[in-house]
Amino acid sequence: MDIISDPQQMQQRALAEKRAGRRVALVPTMGYLHAGHRSLLQEGRKRGDFLVLSLFVNPTQFGPSEDLSTYPRDLEADLALARAAGVDVVWTPTPQEVYPAGYATWVAVEGGLTTTLCGASRPGHFRGVTTVVSKLFNVVQPDVALFGEKDFQQLAVIRQMVRDLNFPIEIVGMPIVREADGLAMSSRNVYLTPDQRRQALVLSQALALARELAAAGERESATILATLRQLIAAQPDARIDYLHICHQTTLQEQARIDAAAVLLLAVFIGKTRLIDNGFLL
Ligand code: PAJ
Repeated sequence: MDIISDPQQMQQRALAEKRAGRRVALVPTMGYLHAGHRSLLQEGRKRGDFLVLSLFVNPTQFGPSEDLSTYPRDLEADLALARAAGVDVVWTPTPQEVYPAGYATWVAVEGGLTTTLCGASRPGHFRGVTTVVSKLFNVVQPDVALFGEKDFQQLAVIRQMVRDLNFPIEIVGMPIVREADGLAMSSRNVYLTPDQRRQALVLSQALALARELAAAGERESATILATLRQLIAAQPDARIDYLHICHQTTLQEQARIDAAAVLLLAVFIGKTRLIDNGFLL
């Protein structure tokens, strides 16, 4: 496994692999890898002949009062996981290499997809994501790139960008990987105290309860959401950032649920903001 920092070197390597007829797969991450990232790498290994993992904590997708400076990092553990998953190249550029002095170009998906949900709570977040993912795509030139459904809105925004800008890349979405007790795996789970870790279960419990209500025949989003709000409010350190039932592709709110309805929620547990989502039927 090779470790590359310089974007130009990464690009030359990827182009050489493509010229040799190999199919390039890319898994973009911000590191502090867990089993969710591993599932993307395993699928990437199957779908590509040459597997690239990018590790880059992208400053432009963090708001001024967010956790950029404390975002967890453990390069040695990440490299061990990458090696075990059969990664060919780990690309770990520095912020200066990605955004050199004078950097001035942005890629932004406009409209409803980026102004709702996480886009409403985190202005500028998706502009940072689409800008860095465009750069990752231009450097690595993957045939296929893998993303998690854990970040359901991010996946929808990236699919829109790839369609709008004609990136010749297949985007693969992978199911949410969870801890045994249901908590969606996230690099940010490390911020939780043991008591908060217990309270954090309320996100996956809310999803399970919504599915139960739907299975019992409830179709009114407002009724389901009111019940979930009560469940979440029972946890002393939980504060709802958003809780919506939306259409899977437009992400517009749906008053009644059907097979396209996704529950999306963001909940602060203390200072840690966690997200989860899932289909209801
Ligand atoms: P990061 O949070 O490190 O996540 C990298 C990829 O792993 C994303 O596609 C995310 O959806 C996926 N992922 C995270 N937790 C998961 C889980 N529990 N199950 C399945 N997949 C999971 O998302 C980002 O980084 C960044 O925004 C990035 C796309 C790299 C751009 O900077």
